[in-house]
Amino acid sequence: MWNFIVFLHESILVMAKIIAIANQKGGVGKTTTAINLAASLAVLEHKTLLVDTDPQANATSGLGFDPQKIENSIYECIVDDNIHPTTTILKTQLPYLELLPSHIDLVGAEVEMVNMPSRERVMKKVLEKIVKDYEFIIIDCSPSLGLITINALTSADSVIIPVQCEFFAMEGLGKLLSTIKIVQQRLNPKLEIEGILLTMYDSRLRLSNQVVEEMQQHFQQLVFDTIIQRNTKLSEAPSFGLPIILFDASSKGTENYMRLACELLKKNNMLRSEETSTDIRERLSKINLS
Ligand SMILES: Nc1ncnc2c1ncn2[C@@H]1O[C@H](COP(=O)(O)OP(=O)(O)O)[C@@H](O)[C@H]1O
Ligand SMILES: [Mg+2]
Repeated sequence: MWNFIVFLHESILVMAKIIAIANQKGGVGKTTTAINLAASLAVLEHKTLLVDTDPQANATSGLGFDPQKIENSIYECIVDDNIHPTTTILKTQLPYLELLPSHIDLVGAEVEMVNMPSRERVMKKVLEKIVKDYEFIIIDCSPSLGLITINALTSADSVIIPVQCEFFAMEGLGKLLSTIKIVQQRLNPKLEIEGILLTMYDSRLRLSNQVVEEMQQHFQQLVFDTIIQRNTKLSEAPSFGLPIILFDASSKGTENYMRLACELLKKNNMLRSEETSTDIRERLSKINLS
């Protein structure tokens, strides 16, 4: 009996928190957030898996892998139950960060999934096989509310919604929130909104400041305290196949995403005391980069 309780306790402890990064609007910073939040958590020594569920495979190429050359991807895991995700997962330069890559073939998956039993829960079944291997699983969603995104929301414990500090920031947000509500009611009652993340903020622009004010007024504590500033290093890093922290450790982008990781950990009572104080360079020097 006691053994069973200890086992139960341990198995609960090591289940990853699954977080989907979603917004059906393109270009709002989903992939940038998925890569750099995952990398920041990994640098803080939380074992993290980044799952690329966008057929455009930007998270895959942004971590330095050529999507054309990838043998197996999330697509194969979804359409073929016999393919175990561990055989598909790739190691990255950061020892605590791994990637379940995407491939353009994923475009066809939605059609192939239509006749599958429990077609909304296929990704959940894939991730269940590896949920005990990580502390965090971060899912980068495509700019759509199609079946793959519904699968991501059905698999997830929570969702982060990046919103660009630009014109029409709120556009489409109502539709996204009502989709989340439908998923909560019909498919995944435990799904929470982890937070709305304001991205590409430029303090010199009045519009940027207006968006921040409006969003904070409207959504209050749902908005992360951390705001991601516009930083060209963030847009350059993917072409070098690197997360920002390995591209330029002293950039604003690195600072912003490390702060986001700490805010997320704190919210989830997972922040270790030393994490807030340690210098990023010092931390990187301790990690065995491959
Ligand atoms: N904070 C930022 N500062 C500067 N450029 C950014 C920032 N966030 C994202 N970008 C750039 O904006 C574009 C869209 O971002 P991306 O993360 O790909 O959005 P999504 O995945 O939502 O389509 C990319 O070229 C990316 O490099
Ligand atoms: Mg993207």
